[in-house]
Amino acid sequence: MAVAVANMTTAALDWVSVKFNAPLAGMVVFGVHIHGHLVVEVLLIAVILFQLSRKSYKPPKKPLTEKEIDDLCDEWAPEPLHPPITEEMLSEPPTLESAAGPHTIIDGKEVVNFASANYLGLIGHEKINDSCIGSLEKYGVGSCGPRGFYGTIDVHLDCEARISKFLGTPDSILYSYGISTIFSVIPAFCKKGDIIVVDEGVHWAVQNGLYLSRSTIVYFKHNDMSSLKSTLEKVTRGNRRAEKIRRYIVVEAIYQNSGQIAPLDEIIRLKEKYLFRVVLDESHSFGVLGSSGRGLAEHYGVPVEKIDIITAGMGNALATDGGFCTGSVRVVDHQRLSSSGYVFSASLPPYLASAAIAAVDYLEENPALLSKLKRNIALLWNELSELPSLILASNPLSPIVFLKLKRSTGSTKGDMKLLDEIVDRVLKEDLVFIVTTKRSTLDKCRLPVGLRIFVSAGHTESDLLKASNSLRRVTALVLSELA
Ligand SMILES: *[C@@H]1O[C@H](CO)[C@@H](O)[C@H](O)[C@H]1NC(C)=O
Repeated sequence: MAVAVANMTTAALDWVSVKFNAPLAGMVVFGVHIHGHLVVEVLLIAVILFQLSRKSYKPPKKPLTEKEIDDLCDEWAPEPLHPPITEEMLSEPPTLESAAGPHTIIDGKEVVNFASANYLGLIGHEKINDSCIGSLEKYGVGSCGPRGFYGTIDVHLDCEARISKFLGTPDSILYSYGISTIFSVIPAFCKKGDIIVVDEGVHWAVQNGLYLSRSTIVYFKHNDMSSLKSTLEKVTRGNRRAEKIRRYIVVEAIYQNSGQIAPLDEIIRLKEKYLFRVVLDESHSFGVLGSSGRGLAEHYGVPVEKIDIITAGMGNALATDGGFCTGSVRVVDHQRLSSSGYVFSASLPPYLASAAIAAVDYLEENPALLSKLKRNIALLWNELSELPSLILASNPLSPIVFLKLKRSTGSTKGDMKLLDEIVDRVLKEDLVFIVTTKRSTLDKCRLPVGLRIFVSAGHTESDLLKASNSLRRVTALVLSELA
């Protein structure tokens, strides 16, 4: 209440000082003060009188009979705990019965796996296995404590240093859980009153970070730089206040929801022009983009220090789990006391940190992995470029190959049904495991739905041909049955 009153008075003051020149304004301001107080006091009295005049609740004189109590109890229907169960909620996802490598077992049958983001094919790799086994024998499984108290183990520090050395950044910090990295980092820096300009296609973990930050969120069109520019222009132009508050642009290097790649050079140009900071999630580009897998900055030849904050989950290319944030020493240090996911979680199991170190070492020593991944993506693109009813909608360099329906059925629900039918039959009839963009009801992303194919350096040419042939055959069948 007090704040509201103060705001009212300052608003009135602003108005007054615009309308009158200085000496006059002093007098009028005084008048406004008295006047403002009077209005508020009269209002308060009115509210108090109104409350006093209301009849207070009087319990009925006679106590309720047993029967009346029973009837009331029978009538009472509590609010349901959850919305009604629909048919699609009942569908069971396929269960893997072996490692999630390029080939895996589902229902006892070996299938080609395009559903795991195992970009470098490192799942089950000898080097990763060995480093995990060594670590497990030395430290056991968990750490049973958060980093800041008693959960810091030497491998955590080694892993942070390894990531910084690989990326050429001053410092890094590890998180225990992939997606909580970004949704802890955003609210660690972005607070109420700050402005975040964000791509409308960001995945759920980013959305959650935005929600938790309580900042003012402004969306721009998915991966559209003219929309980003006009949005930055709009939120800064004529807004003197905006100069004083913190402003961020939040983007993903490769969008999980579309396979698009963010044009970093243009984003950096705009952030420097409009004085914003950039938060970049590299969960799907770390270990993938650039000539040595160092991510989006390497891909665009942009110095990595131009990006203020970089985050990434380690559950994709590195085939382990947890995540990291990297940037300046100050950015990293701030999180050690102020980032909820870091401060309050038990630290990353030491063997996962060892696995991450082994994976980065392996990538650095074997750049051929990256050329294999790139060749695989190009081959699949070539094979999928002339499907009858699906179009390629991702960036040709993205390991997430995203296919959209050429002609939508008119509703997201109808499209999903069609796509689900395609992936079900591709799995059952041809033993190829691909997935649709299944979105949780929590996810606010409104980008078109489609098929997502996660390409791995571990796939062989015949795996890729099997997938494209199966897709060609099954989509033609499903669509002809529909027609
Ligand atoms: C790594 O461990 C898994 C699980 O035991 C095993 O299936 C796989 O063959 C191992 N990889 C190598 C290269 O030995």
